[in-house]
Amino acid sequence: MKNTEISMQNVTALAKRRGFIYPGSEIYGGLANTYDYGPVGTELLRNIRNLWWENFIHRRDDIVGLEASLISHQEIWKASGHTSGFADAQVDCKNCKLRMRADHLIEDALNGKNVEGLAIEELDEIIEQNKIKCPNCGKSSWTKVRKFNLLFPVNLGIVEGDQSLAYLRGETAQGMFVNFKNVIESTRVKLPFGIAQLGKSFRNEITPGNSVFRTLEFEQGEIEYFFDPNESNWEDLFENWKNSIWSFITEKIGINNKNLRWREHTDKERSFYSKKTEDLEYNFPFGFKELWGLAYRTDYDLSQHEKGSGKELRINNPQTNEKKLPHVIEPAVGINRIFLMILCDAYREEEGRTYLKLNPKIAPYKAAVFPLLANKEELVSKAKEIYKDLRESIMVTFDDRGNIGKRYLYQDEIGTPFCITVDFDSLSDDSVTVRYRDTMEQDRIKISELKDFIEKKTR
Ligand code: GAP
Repeated sequence: MKNTEISMQNVTALAKRRGFIYPGSEIYGGLANTYDYGPVGTELLRNIRNLWWENFIHRRDDIVGLEASLISHQEIWKASGHTSGFADAQVDCKNCKLRMRADHLIEDALNGKNVEGLAIEELDEIIEQNKIKCPNCGKSSWTKVRKFNLLFPVNLGIVEGDQSLAYLRGETAQGMFVNFKNVIESTRVKLPFGIAQLGKSFRNEITPGNSVFRTLEFEQGEIEYFFDPNESNWEDLFENWKNSIWSFITEKIGINNKNLRWREHTDKERSFYSKKTEDLEYNFPFGFKELWGLAYRTDYDLSQHEKGSGKELRINNPQTNEKKLPHVIEPAVGINRIFLMILCDAYREEEGRTYLKLNPKIAPYKAAVFPLLANKEELVSKAKEIYKDLRESIMVTFDDRGNIGKRYLYQDEIGTPFCITVDFDSLSDDSVTVRYRDTMEQDRIKISELKDFIEKKTR
């Protein structure tokens, strides 16, 4: 089922028009599956990151942060299984040379048919049996399905022939596993505890479209939550994580829970080492898609790195004096997918007006200050005085371009919850007009109470 009320085209047009997202390398014709974040989008992205970090690290006493290198040793990715198993099944149209992920080709042609976990021969059979046509040229002439690895190799060193292979990380998670011993030895953590990381990951994705949903480089927020399976019940931990994720998305970010659902992975699609995996899915305009994955990965990753590195990663249980590898539950989210979900969920077209009904806590600007007329010096200087005072502690913007209607239009489309206008009465009554984005209602508020008023509504 698709969230048909919102058109993806309208959301992406607004995102470009108002400085949320621009296509990557645009003046050189663009670079597929890359995007740049504009001034307004950059603020929104920072607010999402900060909220995630504050909620899962600062407000808890059992999770610590980490920032690992983006370029990492090839052996890490061999041990984790990424060099052999981290691959997408792809097909090429023999006629127009379009390259597509086989699962996406089938999903699009056969009404969302779920083919996750199927072997490449099974995908070939489905494409052939259904005579699936190329979405670009309309012919049905495909190569056999082949697997392509998603990792980005990098050559270190400048002398040709003397270079060594490393990889841009394909997920942040491995940074937590390879630093597990470092964290244990350098901090006071004890099981159960988590290591969290927020940062870029890189995957050689080929499927274009749907804005920042799937890109070559993206930001992940991942937590590896380590525990002793004899002392903590994994089912309880898994349920607790589901609740934490749900309340973060609905209460902190403010997403409508009607557009969210949990979906458990089938036996075929779940990784062989995972005992249970569930995805929190959001109802994007192009259908319910994965936003946040939650997986019980047993002790697979640590044991792989123990084997791969030859270093002991076991920890001692002081009660039993037994050395064991902890197990792990991993909540993993894409920050850019949260970003896109927020834009889709907030987008409103009502009575000829377009606005973003953003939660004030994550809105790029909390308020905008205007002088009623740009050519009246006394109004401009009063408005600037108010703006500078608010700017000390609140993210505010100043605008004296065009007329008030145009300024409201702009602020509505970037989701600014409050617009403050300084008019001639302000000069004598020390009050301003505050206009609310969602209702367009207006209140008169004393300038001396303004800061407090906005802070209370946006923190
Ligand atoms: N460590 C587990 C892991 O990386 P994943 O499901 O591949 O799991 C986790 O990625 C999350 O990262 C996804 O739920 C999604 O939100 C985000 N993500 C994955 N690939 C992405 C891409 N190419 N572009 C944007 N976000 C992506």
